[in-house]
Amino acid sequence: MSKKPVRVAVTGAAGQIGYALLFRIASGEMLGKDQPVILQLLEIPDEKAQNALKGVIMELEDCAFPLLAGIEAHSDPMTAFKDTDYALLVGARPRGPGMERADLLAANAQIFTVQGKALNAVASRNVRVLVVGNPANTNAYIAMKSAPDLPAKNFTAMLRLDHNRAASQIAAKTGKAVGSIEKLAVWGNHSPTMYADYRNATIDGQSVKDLINDEQWNREVFLPTVGKRGAAIIAARGLSSAASAANAAIDHMRDWALGTNGKWVTMGIPSGGEYGIPKEVMFGYPVTCEGGEYKIVQGIEIDAFSQECINKTLKELTDEQDGVKHLL
Ligand code: NAD
Ligand code: LMR
Repeated sequence: MSKKPVRVAVTGAAGQIGYALLFRIASGEMLGKDQPVILQLLEIPDEKAQNALKGVIMELEDCAFPLLAGIEAHSDPMTAFKDTDYALLVGARPRGPGMERADLLAANAQIFTVQGKALNAVASRNVRVLVVGNPANTNAYIAMKSAPDLPAKNFTAMLRLDHNRAASQIAAKTGKAVGSIEKLAVWGNHSPTMYADYRNATIDGQSVKDLINDEQWNREVFLPTVGKRGAAIIAARGLSSAASAANAAIDHMRDWALGTNGKWVTMGIPSGGEYGIPKEVMFGYPVTCEGGEYKIVQGIEIDAFSQECINKTLKELTDEQDGVKHLL
C-alpha cells in the first residue's frame, strides 16, 4: 500500500536555493523514494516573486514526478504552513560581497518571528523545521522562541553545508573518498567562527588526525578555508551558494527523517546544556539520527584549543541572540 502524502512547506520558493531544492524534494531524494509529498510553497506577495513562483510550479508539473501529490502557491505563512509536517525556511535576503552573515540579522530577523508564530498557529504539532536563511542559527532561535506551543527540539539550523565542506577538504587533503569519512563534527555558528573538528574522525578505521598529521594545516588552512567558503563562493560567482546549500538541506532533512545508521552528522539544534553550552542556544553539534529523532554524540573530549574555538563561536551566538531580544 502506498504511503500517505506528507506536507512540506518551503519558503523563498522562487529564489536560487528554492530552484535547486524543490525538484529534489519532489523526486523523493529528501524523504524517500516511497514517500509522496505535497509542496506548500511560500513567496512574498510581490507580483514579480509570485509570477516567478508560478513559473517554478509549471516546471515542477512538467517533471511529472510520481511522488508529487500536490503543489500549492502561497503568499501568507498562515496558509503556507497549514498542517505542514516539514518546513524549510529558506526565504530571506542573502549577503553580498563584503558582508558578514550577521549583517543580515536586521534585514531578516523579523521574517522569523512572523513565520515562527505562523508555524505555532497552524503547522502539524510535530512539524520538523530547518532554517536555512541567514544568519541561520539566530533565525532558528527566533522562530523557536516565537513558537512556544511546538517542541523546541524540532527547530534546527543548517550547519550541514559546513560539515560537507569540511569533509570535502579532508578528502582532498588525504586523497581518500569523501564518503569514507566518519565522526566529523562542526561546532557552533554557521559563520567563520564555526569549529570544524576532525580530531575524532576516521577513514576506513584510520585516524584522520594521524593521516594528516599537520596541526599547522588544521589551524592555518583547513579552518579558514571551511569558515570562509561561503564568502569565497560569493566572490567567485557574484551570488551566494545555492546548489550546495540545497544539497545540504536535503542531507539534513533526509538524515533527520530517515536516520544516519550510526554515522555522525552536524545539525544546529537548541542546546540542552551539553558540552557547557547554555540551554536553548542554537548550536552546531555532532549528532546521530534514528526513528525521526536526533541525539547529540556524547563523551567527546574537548581539549584546550577546541574549548577556545567553541568559546569564540558561542560568544558570537550569544551576542547575536542578545541583539534580537527585543523581537521575542
Ligand atoms: P534568493 O534571494 O535567491 O532567494 C530568496 C527568496 O526568498 C526570494 O525569492 C525572496 O522573494 C524570498 N523571500 C524573502 N522574504 C521572504 C519571506 N518573508 N517569505 C517568503 N519568501 C521570502 O536567496 P537564496 O540564494 O535562495 O538564499 C536564501 C537564504 O539562504 C539567504 O539568507 C542566504 O544567505 C541563505 N543561505 C544559507 C546557507 C546555510 O548554509 N545556512 C547557505 C546558502 C544560503
Ligand atoms: C554559505 O555558507 O555559502 C551561505 O551561508 C551563504 C553565505 O552568505 O555565505
